[in-house]
Amino acid sequence: MKILGICSSPRMEGNTFYYLKTALSEAEKLGAETELIQLSGKKISGCRTCYECVNAKKCTQEDDFQEIFEKITRADGLLLASPVYHSCITPEMKCVLDRAGFSGRWAKNEMKETKSSYEWKGSALSGKIVAPVTVARRAGQNFAFAEILLWAAANDCIIVGNTYWNVGVAGKGGAYNANEDQEGIGIMTRLAGNMVDVIKKLNAEVNYEQA
Ligand SMILES: Cc1cc2nc3c(=O)[nH]c(=O)nc-3n(C[C@H](O)[C@H](O)[C@H](O)COP(=O)(O)O)c2cc1C
Repeated sequence: MKILGICSSPRMEGNTFYYLKTALSEAEKLGAETELIQLSGKKISGCRTCYECVNAKKCTQEDDFQEIFEKITRADGLLLASPVYHSCITPEMKCVLDRAGFSGRWAKNEMKETKSSYEWKGSALSGKIVAPVTVARRAGQNFAFAEILLWAAANDCIIVGNTYWNVGVAGKGGAYNANEDQEGIGIMTRLAGNMVDVIKKLNAEVNYEQA
């Protein structure tokens, strides 16, 4: 059971990192293999709308995206964590989501000239268990959270719920103070449990069918 956490703060080991690490540490205690990638310092451009992935079956832009996409495809679960910037996810996260979603789709499908809708054969992201995590000083969580949810919902992923939205409240004046947010820490801990449960249940079903 592999869970990959992607942290899109431009600063290393900030608040978003703290919440994500909390969730991943808990997931490890519950038996998952985990990895946390910080996008800070990585070179990942936005989608350039070249459509080369349609025929190449992969994103043809050579930068640090390739390594991250490889890890995404190998993970069962994805925790996508972003600070809130003007009520949105950060550009770093947007670049990854756009390129993974688009090239992931064409990895499994042909572009057809037809009047009927596409007969989609899934995506490289099909069946990934996904949950957003957003972190704000005060406001704008809903929109940023929804950006990640909407991406997952249109990329054949399975979204994990919680008893509250997976949000952290920290960072007034740039403070590194996520460790003071007891409620947020509790939310991340429960999120990890829910993600591990969903992965286990899905695997149990597959094993049953094979038996
Ligand atoms: C460019 C920028 C835009 C921000 N926009 C918001 C916002 O819309 N709402 C909010 O509550 N906090 C906002 N913040 C504050 C950050 O979300 C907050 O400090 C967060 O803890 C930073 O996470 P990090 O430590 O992982 O980088 C913004 C910060 C920056 C630098």
